[in-house]
Amino acid sequence: MTQDELKLAVAQAAIAYVVEGEIVGVGTGSTANFFIDELAKIKHKIKGAVASSEATASRLRAHGITVFDLNEVSAMPVYIDGADEITASGAMIKGGGAALTREKIVASVAKSFVCIADGSKFVNLLGKFPLPVEVIPMARESVIRALNAIGGEAKLRMKDGAALLTDNGNVIVDIHGLQIADPVALEKQINNIVGVVAVGLFAVQGANVCLLGTSEGVKTLQF
Ligand code: A5P
Repeated sequence: MTQDELKLAVAQAAIAYVVEGEIVGVGTGSTANFFIDELAKIKHKIKGAVASSEATASRLRAHGITVFDLNEVSAMPVYIDGADEITASGAMIKGGGAALTREKIVASVAKSFVCIADGSKFVNLLGKFPLPVEVIPMARESVIRALNAIGGEAKLRMKDGAALLTDNGNVIVDIHGLQIADPVALEKQINNIVGVVAVGLFAVQGANVCLLGTSEGVKTLQF
């Protein structure tokens, strides 16, 4: 099976976690896009969605799915999103698509986080994928110094010759070369750096379920 076929398979499996008559939190990225396309097929059964990025909001709207502002929503049964890496305990690296802050916010309101990922995302140790950190632009260099002091190599994410800007108008610093033995501790440590908006470690609040696409079928991991 191709990676896209595995992403489609987990996106289809995730539909079983969508609660009828409710609002669903929707992530960002290529796997989440497959999910949005599947969600469109049952859109008459849901109240609508909360999006974790402008790109996701546009795709949802293009399918005729109502997009709610998170401030209008007090409860959400489930948030469904991809990951860049996930471990056997449900800790994840996210933010390859630069949407980590809104992803974390929407996930924090949902009762349950269902991660949808192809098998290549499953790792023993987080850190091979560079860890994204969203940073207030004026704190860029001070945060890079603080991150380099923790370990790895912090690099500003660029796009078309300029610093990439997130949907929130901030920059992304990616930390390369980490081996994250204690994701909860590192998440807390990076959150404590002044100027950091959010870190793409989802460990304090990780996934509750992971639907993992493999050549033997979709495996369900519960955490
Ligand atoms: C977006 O910022 C990310 O957190 C994505 O959820 C993550 O990068 C997974 O993306 P893919 O589904 O495209 O691999």
